[in-house]
Amino acid sequence: MSDGHDLEAMLARFREELGRAGDDKALYELQVRFLGKKGEVTGLSRSLGALPPADRKAFGERINRLKQTVEAELAARADALAEQARAAELANIEDLTFQRPRASLGSLHPITRTRRELERVFAGLGFDVLDGPHVESAQYNFDDLNIGPDHPARDMADTFFVEPPAGSKIGPGELVLRTHTSPVQVRTMLTRTPPIRIVAMGTVFRRDDDATHSPMFHQIEGLCIDRNVSMADLRLTLYRFVGAFFGRELQVRLRPSFFPFVEPGAEFDMQCPFCGGKGCSTCKGSGWIELGGSGMVHPKVFSACGLDPELWTGWAFGFGIDRMAMLQHGIDDLRLMFEGDVRFLEQFPC
Ligand code: DAH
Repeated sequence: MSDGHDLEAMLARFREELGRAGDDKALYELQVRFLGKKGEVTGLSRSLGALPPADRKAFGERINRLKQTVEAELAARADALAEQARAAELANIEDLTFQRPRASLGSLHPITRTRRELERVFAGLGFDVLDGPHVESAQYNFDDLNIGPDHPARDMADTFFVEPPAGSKIGPGELVLRTHTSPVQVRTMLTRTPPIRIVAMGTVFRRDDDATHSPMFHQIEGLCIDRNVSMADLRLTLYRFVGAFFGRELQVRLRPSFFPFVEPGAEFDMQCPFCGGKGCSTCKGSGWIELGGSGMVHPKVFSACGLDPELWTGWAFGFGIDRMAMLQHGIDDLRLMFEGDVRFLEQFPC
């Protein structure tokens, strides 16, 4: 060749090596060898000055074309290698429709959800939320609540008695699994000074087991103590609670009843949220749903808890949380809630 450089031979050499370059590293080395600062193609440009001026332009153009060709072929080879790698990867997957089984996520139990909802609503109404121990003294669970030694609620048939630890001074019959959340009233009066506004939620225990009773269930207790508190405040609080909990206005009614720790005592019902009071299968046609018990704190309870009944007035209420959760979720058998059957629990994802 007139310029003394065989560009065709150089390109042929490049192509031969390119054919052998099997990975990115080899491609890079090739790129350095031909296009790098000290590369062969770059070296050609440097030799331009030694040519007679008349030949320089044509030779320069040839070098440029060679450079572009080398660049393009390097890039094409890199693409081809990537493509091959991807194809190999896919060929190794045996079943493209295969899906890894999803890890199953747990969710909150319907009762936990109802408890949290109750907590939110009562906190919004200005109540502190408490719980108390499950193993309770018979004193707090019964005596201080004016449930005397002969009261039928203390019967072995209703109460789980707890054997006192060996060697302790606690006598037989003095420890129980709390049969209701009402002992938290006692604990609160003994430790706080009025005004008091608390709700206590938690597990309670009774010897009962059928479609509507479980030996372990959940209650919520409300207690409000201040000067000049009245039954009207109780009724308004229950009304506000029911409205906030079910998200719409529902009437509340009180029916005279008896509980040893309140006087007067009343059971309270709410207007059925399903039929709005017209009567349906949930409320058994009555338009009302029984919720729980309530009343004005008994003077004897105040005295037992060290508060002067002449000075303080208060009301209390208590009802089952499980019933509430069943109403909310349309569940008709209480036992489903506690059996831990995953097929049941899976119906409440969240
Ligand atoms: N402790 C009662 C029960 O378990 C419910 C109850 C009734 C709670 C009246 C109260 C109340 O605070 O005033 O059946």
